[in-house]
Amino acid sequence: MVRPGVTDELWPIIGHPAYLNQCVRMSLRRLKVERIDLWQLHRVDPNVPEADQFGFIADMIEQGLIRHAGLSQVTIEQIKTAQQYFPVATVQNMYNLAHRVDEDVLDYCEANGIGFIPWFPLASGGLAQPGGLVDALARAKGASASQIALAWMLKRSPSIIAIPGTSRVKHLEENVAGGAVVLTDEEFEALNTASPAPLNLTRH
Ligand SMILES: NC(=O)c1ccc[n+]([C@@H]2O[C@H](COP(=O)([O-])OP(=O)(O)OC[C@H]3O[C@@H](n4cnc5c(N)ncnc54)[C@H](OP(=O)(O)O)[C@@H]3O)[C@@H](O)[C@H]2O)c1
Repeated sequence: MVRPGVTDELWPIIGHPAYLNQCVRMSLRRLKVERIDLWQLHRVDPNVPEADQFGFIADMIEQGLIRHAGLSQVTIEQIKTAQQYFPVATVQNMYNLAHRVDEDVLDYCEANGIGFIPWFPLASGGLAQPGGLVDALARAKGASASQIALAWMLKRSPSIIAIPGTSRVKHLEENVAGGAVVLTDEEFEALNTASPAPLNLTRH
């Protein structure tokens, strides 16, 4: 996805192999490496044949410019199609306590040895409001709401790789310490019940 302007919310998707090729080569230059360990396709471009996009990734792996490759915001069908071209190492879809439309994708990843990297992992919606279950658990366990959201995620699946984003050292330290916050099975189930996997939300 590209961001042509800063004053609007337009995020056009460009999946033409020539553009992807430029992205890989510019990343190599910026990162000062000869091979990118993990390269993820930000979005599958609906206006470019999937074969062209996935074939390009396979070519980059073949050339040794990419070691592992992943996808972002994809369905199980798209993962299966991509797997015909290259080993899908990771999937990065939006997933958090308040947004669980991709439970099936997560289950597929777990069953197939694919790392699942949720983006926007800390959100927990109204559950983090005063009186909500996340807030209550945080108080009871001497943790923060973010730590409870992360603890739920880490207990949900061993395939989940949590990468909460932050611009503050205090939050970074808090999030890292969150790895030590462990939910009991009862607490985990209570959160699942309070935030069931919705069936009617649109995928992004
Ligand atoms: N593949 C995709 O399409 C896609 C889309 C979006 C994001 N991502 C990636 O996903 C990763 C994380 O996602 P994200 O940044 O969107 O969401 P996030 O990690 O769920 O949330 C980041 C927000 O939470 C705040 N925060 C972080 N730690 C906190 C804490 N302990 N207490 C309170 N607030 C806290 C941050 O503010 P402060 O800065 O004040 O801490 C920031 O506003 C990033 O690597 C990002 O690049 C990928």
